[in-house]
Amino acid sequence: ISLKPYNTFGIDVLAKHFVAVSNLDELKEVLARSAYPNKLILGGGSNMLLTKNQEALVIHVNLKGISVISEDENSVTVKANAGENWHEFVLWCLKRNFGGIENLSLIPGNVGTAPIQNIGAYGVELKDTFVSCEGLSLETKKIKSFSKTDCDFGYRNSIFKQHEKGKYIITSVTFKLTKKAHKLNIAYGSITTQLEEMGVTNPTIQDVSKAVIAIRESKLPNPKEIGNSGSFFKNPIVSKADYIALAENFKDIPSYTISEDEIKIPAGWLIEKSGFKGKRFGDYGVHKKQALVLVNYGNAKGSDILNLSKLIQKTIKRLFGISIEAEVNIL
Ligand code: EPU
Repeated sequence: ISLKPYNTFGIDVLAKHFVAVSNLDELKEVLARSAYPNKLILGGGSNMLLTKNQEALVIHVNLKGISVISEDENSVTVKANAGENWHEFVLWCLKRNFGGIENLSLIPGNVGTAPIQNIGAYGVELKDTFVSCEGLSLETKKIKSFSKTDCDFGYRNSIFKQHEKGKYIITSVTFKLTKKAHKLNIAYGSITTQLEEMGVTNPTIQDVSKAVIAIRESKLPNPKEIGNSGSFFKNPIVSKADYIALAENFKDIPSYTISEDEIKIPAGWLIEKSGFKGKRFGDYGVHKKQALVLVNYGNAKGSDILNLSKLIQKTIKRLFGISIEAEVNIL
């Protein structure tokens, strides 16, 4: 079957063997099929670039369900199964006035893939409300629980991208959210401005969500209209000394301080400075409003986009001496 409907980049490659599973027993049964030694786990397909037809057994994890595990006066513990769409989960929480993930509104993808890269936006990361997740071991076929410490979250990083990569299928994620006295994260410049524009003076978590949605819609392409995978690259982190040297040549270079000796530079700025912003090559290119996003205007091949990403990396290395790393998985 074609995987085009299953990846937000909208790349048309074929899967030789494909199965969708909607409960744990089905998933275990599918994993036991030894005829397929290689398995590719597919959630929302929002963080991958498919560059070729897939020989592995593609397993579409479609486990649904959201439930309240426990609650007290101030907080609530909610468990969501891996196949729930992330943004719909955020809306489910907002409807019940559960706070903590409103800044993560409109991030494409599913709940089960959110911990892998510790999704983050507008000053909030998944790890801030994460309690634990469960994963089915491909090796033992047993469910294992991972605490926040186990996951070792970092910027767009976790053990599931490092030494546990490809070893577990995340089946559910549990969050601790607030029921009242919500702690709003609106310091991130554009949120404050957006709330002002909306005429909101005393924002609720629902207002913050609306502001985030408005900001995202104004600069990020909707994958239903233009294929994309959000940020294609991670923002690089450089040493303070390198940053100072760069800032001498490029007075307008934006930066965020990470630690005493580490500075994060927006890859979008580097790409824009290199002249790639809005560049279109046939059916693929760099988004007009956010240079960090590579796009498929229709029938682009994954390999075209991969080659463009390599050209961007090479150019940035040449101009700034910085290596930028892809954030999406290249398959
Ligand atoms: N910039 C440019 N030109 C561009 C884009 C950005 O010069 O075309 C510069 C501007 O100076 C801007 C700065 O980069 O102020 C930062 O841009 P923005 O606030 O749009 O955020 P970002 O660093 O590009 C990160 C995340 C996004 C997340 C936003 C908001 C990464 C790789 N990306 O982007 O995450 O939504 O912050 O918090 O960390 C994703 O991971 O898919 C994603 C969209």
